[in-house]
Amino acid sequence: MPFMGLWDARKDGPPANDLISLLSHDPVTRKGDNPERYLGNVMLLTVAGSDTTRHSITGALMAFQDYPDAYDRLRGDPTLLESAVPEIVRWQSPVAHMRRTATQDFELGGKTIKKGDRVVMWYVSGNRDEDVIADAERFIIDRERPRQHVAFGFGIHRCVGNRLAEMQLRVVWEEILKRFERIEVVGEPRRLKSNFVKGYEALPVRIVA
Ligand code: HEM
Repeated sequence: MPFMGLWDARKDGPPANDLISLLSHDPVTRKGDNPERYLGNVMLLTVAGSDTTRHSITGALMAFQDYPDAYDRLRGDPTLLESAVPEIVRWQSPVAHMRRTATQDFELGGKTIKKGDRVVMWYVSGNRDEDVIADAERFIIDRERPRQHVAFGFGIHRCVGNRLAEMQLRVVWEEILKRFERIEVVGEPRRLKSNFVKGYEALPVRIVA
């Protein structure tokens, strides 16, 4: 595997000025002498950082189709992106779930989770929880507490790239809003067949310049 050569070649010299090289030199992120775990980390970083943001962009296009007023308001006042971006991430929830193993017995919603049980945490469902998020079924670009969602997970594994993702989405929409009066969805989306990544394979659109 060519990747192994890269990993070994960089081991003895100083790190180059890129993230992959820095990760392979730090004893913690290098994962000792375990290239599989190191590769796992690099792949996680790459996939976690690309699938999620692009499906959020497509998800926003779908949302703007149902809420055209939102797009017009953002064009009039791009500072609204500050709250619109986290709302887009909540609305799309591109990572549908993660799984944990319970380390102790726990009572939740009247059910007992036993130590050792495997628990699936459906972020897509949590992000539509009306007990926590007001009007959860509506796409609202100026929510009072827009970052109060679970699309990035929770706890020590909460998405390490969450702020980067928000920045990327803000810049993408700043640039799109500047250029295009409207983007119309002109056909049915082709959804990704996955219970893990909630996203799209294709979405036909027409850009109105
Ligand atoms: C809208 C965009 C994104 C969403 C919705 C998202 C969502 C998530 C979720 C749900 C987790 C798991 C949290 C958990 O297990 O508790 C996660 C973990 C992670 N994300 Fe993201 N992510 C996004 C963008 C990014 C970006 C841009 C990067 C980096 C370039 C990134 C890197 C990671 C990594 C490395 C982890 C693993 C963290 C750990 O296990 O400690 N993500 N993300």
